[in-house]
Amino acid sequence: MRKLISYIGLGRLLQPVIIISICTTVHANTVPSSSPNDITYPSTDYGLGEHLSSNEATAAVTIADLIETSVRKQYATGIALRDVHSKAHGCVQAEFKINKNLPKNIAQGIFIPGKTYQSWIRFSNGSSDSTQADIKRDARGIAIKILGVPGKKLLDNEASTQDFIMINHPVFFVNDPVRYMSLMQDINSDRFFKKLHIPFVLGAKGTWIALNSKTKISNPLHTRYWSMTPYQLGISPNREAVKYSIQACSAVKEAIPHAPNHDFLREALKSSLKKDDACMEFLIQPRTSNKMSVEDSMTEWKESDAPFYKVATIRIPQQIFDTPAQNEFCENLSFSPWHSLPEHKPLGAVNRMRKVIYERISLVRHEMNSIQRAEPHSK
Ligand code: HEM
Repeated sequence: MRKLISYIGLGRLLQPVIIISICTTVHANTVPSSSPNDITYPSTDYGLGEHLSSNEATAAVTIADLIETSVRKQYATGIALRDVHSKAHGCVQAEFKINKNLPKNIAQGIFIPGKTYQSWIRFSNGSSDSTQADIKRDARGIAIKILGVPGKKLLDNEASTQDFIMINHPVFFVNDPVRYMSLMQDINSDRFFKKLHIPFVLGAKGTWIALNSKTKISNPLHTRYWSMTPYQLGISPNREAVKYSIQACSAVKEAIPHAPNHDFLREALKSSLKKDDACMEFLIQPRTSNKMSVEDSMTEWKESDAPFYKVATIRIPQQIFDTPAQNEFCENLSFSPWHSLPEHKPLGAVNRMRKVIYERISLVRHEMNSIQRAEPHSK
């Protein structure tokens, strides 16, 4: 039954019902990550408009429990993969080059004008099904791990990394923690009528977003990604709420193959990076009005009201990335919006819950695989 269910990069939904271091070697230079027992539920920044909803922290733990049970069941034998975004198209080395000139309000945290960081990027399908053909409609993910970032991080470990995680759709399909918990309970229930309940829990808007988040793409390098949820920028009284986006440096028209291979997105990535470097832009969208909610991840901050600004160029050098060692290294990485400097603190209920959930699920899969969790260092 579980295979009928698909995360939209965003949660596992019942499709029929919806008709509804740069390391010198890839394993070297790592430090142990913190234990999820240290995890405290995030505080809320009332100044930026955050507010804790009732039972939110309990809902986050219940969702983590449900996902953990599901992962333990699905991967009772074999290697435990991520619960969602389990199929990677590839994991590449990249340079993250901050613009030489940035306005003062943007030049915060890692955004030091002119600085270049080394990074890892993992491209993925959103589905829980790691065997799914790439031609199936799905949400597509990009996860960037920036290396060599000094300073104390929000997860309180010794990591020198800053992560950015995005999906190729601007909004998330749910924003209410208790509703999300109820949805996960329905999805994980063995009782069929519970699954019929899913669209009602999701509501018309959530169902619409869930359906529209799933698309076909031709190449992970040429699609546009959004953070969906907001982040803090800066820590001073002038701190702002922003969202992020990533897009190709120049628009590329590439047709989806007529008879695509099962893993054609990996093939597209391989062939692009065999020929040439790739270029993507990292964009920041500062909020322009307090009416743009930090709690409502289901509503887009319209670009016409709040434009995006380019703050960095991501250069992915020509490379051969598809090696067993590099693939394994990347599968053992853990990306989390909370691998972050306080200057880029995640905001809103969905992000707060992710602190608890990502830590737990990452720990579970590493424990199941008897792998030490670790954050990479730059050389
Ligand atoms: C409360 C809502 C969410 C839940 C419960 C959730 C759950 C998860 C889980 C359990 C993982 C695997 C973690 C691991 O094993 O290391 C994951 C990975 C991921 N999630 Fe979410 N997620 C949520 C919201 C989002 C949002 C809003 C986005 C994007 C904007 C997103 C994008 C991704 C991506 C791209 C990955 C793969 C990262 C990688 O390559 O390792 N998720 N999510």
